[in-house]
Amino acid sequence: MTEKHNEGLLEEKRFFFPPTEFSAKAIIQNPNIHELGADRATFWNEQGRRLDWFKPWNTVLEWNPPFAKWYVGGKLNAAYNCLDRHLAGPRRNKAALIFEGELGDRRVLTYQDLYREVSQFANVLKSLDVEKGDRVTIYMPLIPETVIAMLACARIGAVHCVVFGGFSAEALKDRIQNSLSKVVVTTDGSYRRGNSIPLKANVDLALPVTCINNCVESVIVVKRTGQPVDMLEGRDVWYHEVMKNVSIVCPAEPMDAEDMLFILYTSGTTGKPKGVVHTVGGYMVGVSTTHEWVFDLKEEDVYWCTADVGWITGHSYLVYGPLSNGATILMYEGAPDFPEKDRYWKIIEDYRVTILYTAPTAIRTFMKWGESYPLGRDLSSLRLLGSVGEPINPEAWMWYNKFIGGEHCPIVDTWWQTETGMIMMTPVPGITPLKPGSCTIPFPGVHIEIVDHAGNPVPKGEGGYLVVREPWPAMLKTVYGDDKRYQDTYWSEIADVYFTGDEAKWDEDGYFWVVGRVDDVINVSGHRIGTAEVEGALVDHLLVAEAACVGRTHEVKGQAVFAFVSLKEGIEIYDGLIAELKAHVVQKIGALARPDDIFLTAELPKTRSGKIMRRLLKDIAEGRTIGDTTTLADAEVINFLKKNIDAQK
Ligand code: WT7
Repeated sequence: MTEKHNEGLLEEKRFFFPPTEFSAKAIIQNPNIHELGADRATFWNEQGRRLDWFKPWNTVLEWNPPFAKWYVGGKLNAAYNCLDRHLAGPRRNKAALIFEGELGDRRVLTYQDLYREVSQFANVLKSLDVEKGDRVTIYMPLIPETVIAMLACARIGAVHCVVFGGFSAEALKDRIQNSLSKVVVTTDGSYRRGNSIPLKANVDLALPVTCINNCVESVIVVKRTGQPVDMLEGRDVWYHEVMKNVSIVCPAEPMDAEDMLFILYTSGTTGKPKGVVHTVGGYMVGVSTTHEWVFDLKEEDVYWCTADVGWITGHSYLVYGPLSNGATILMYEGAPDFPEKDRYWKIIEDYRVTILYTAPTAIRTFMKWGESYPLGRDLSSLRLLGSVGEPINPEAWMWYNKFIGGEHCPIVDTWWQTETGMIMMTPVPGITPLKPGSCTIPFPGVHIEIVDHAGNPVPKGEGGYLVVREPWPAMLKTVYGDDKRYQDTYWSEIADVYFTGDEAKWDEDGYFWVVGRVDDVINVSGHRIGTAEVEGALVDHLLVAEAACVGRTHEVKGQAVFAFVSLKEGIEIYDGLIAELKAHVVQKIGALARPDDIFLTAELPKTRSGKIMRRLLKDIAEGRTIGDTTTLADAEVINFLKKNIDAQK
């Protein structure tokens, strides 16, 4: 990427232009593509045609704020669009999925292979009485059967709820109960850095309670690690056994464009995770369009998205986007440093990966390990790089560009959310000049603004709340079972717009710079952790009276959880208590929520009305000057915290 200087910009003075060889072959070469998107209805109507429909839609959008219906009257099936429609031509024998296990085992499934397994598993689900609209929880590692299970649900119109394999039994239980799933699909265990994590055992822990409302009737277990598991007679079955002699014919269910495709739980400001609902039509159009344009997808690409399917990135850009476009996806099960710190680069070398989509936290980790690892491998097959999950700091961007991209790969920094379903801000790689650290501009057909609290757009050069002014096809349709929460969380904070929860600035060129969350959400390694959830987990501990969590800057993870905890009256601090509290959070939520720091204090700083002043706690956690304390009920508390913080660390 060639660098040009442009004085007078807000933050970053460097402009990087797409290499001419790249632009000349890019899928999107029209420099006016964003203007075409200005007529949103026409633009998305046009894009709708990229999918195969059993019945065409009659209205592209019905908008009764804040409830949108896209492709009204249309009928389609997501799995059909990801599989069946590729079988007629040369794609039938193309690799759909290339899998590498952590221990080095390999599997390749062609589109025909994937179609067969998905159809068979769909028939298995049917034989277990799963019907259209029923929910199926998928609690799995990153292996082909996870994709098979998702597509099998989509094929018969069941709603999948994928729960990241790193979540604890309790977190899993909450999600199963909220979705009232009929079936759970899991594995005996999953590999992580050579250890195995007992997923089936977690399912067993999660289920006795849910059995009270009798929602889970069957558990299907894929054998992955071979570790011993308990199989409950009448409820649990092995995948490899139920898949024997099953018909490969399973017609794809014609789904209404607005039928549910999946629920994905994500953290918000309150203690309970929200079930974000995505429906078939708009979601598929959104992810298919963005996947093709943003990653400049060509027939011969080997596309690798490193995200786990437990997150939205895995749903949209490992499964539905790429497979609907007939891409070859690479899927790697394990850790980036197993057995060596060059595992990712070895995979790129081995499979000649052309497109890599990963997260800033991973890039910063690689930076820390040093460039000798990527330099030791042949990465010349790469032609495009992507970033997602949090703002990428310019230093990491420059390193990614130099040591991974060899200075010839455009970098697409993509901003979006679980709720948006699809990429919303991003460069279009053949035409958009890049600035390190900026996700550049909204995708064609997407209307994003930065506004003040009253909802008025702020002038260029200034910052405010990041909002979406108009509906977009892959938008969430509601919070599962809770329309009011959908309305309150996303459409009430600022009148008439979708509130993202992010703060951003835009510069004189109209480029967007996302600063971070303005709500009580912490972004740890690109994953959303709700402070209220962690606080709930801490307070659940027998000895804890009160807890308050904030995010503090972390060199690799972006942010880390910093918890302030006060113990119940008369409880003495003892050795190992902090470790015990951390373990309790892991048990309640999962390792991803483990606080890096726990500070024990007799009091938390509160206003006279008893509200915890997180702003001050954040100042303390960040080690910066304490802000305005005039509304504090007891100013001494803050002095105590300030004085003792280093001593306790
Ligand atoms: C939040 C959404 C969408 C996939 C992964 C995370 C932050 C995401 C970027 C980016 C700056 C980003 C935002 C957003 N975020 N991508 N390119 N630049 N910030 O999904 O868990 O729903 O989190 O992640 O704060 O609101 P998520």
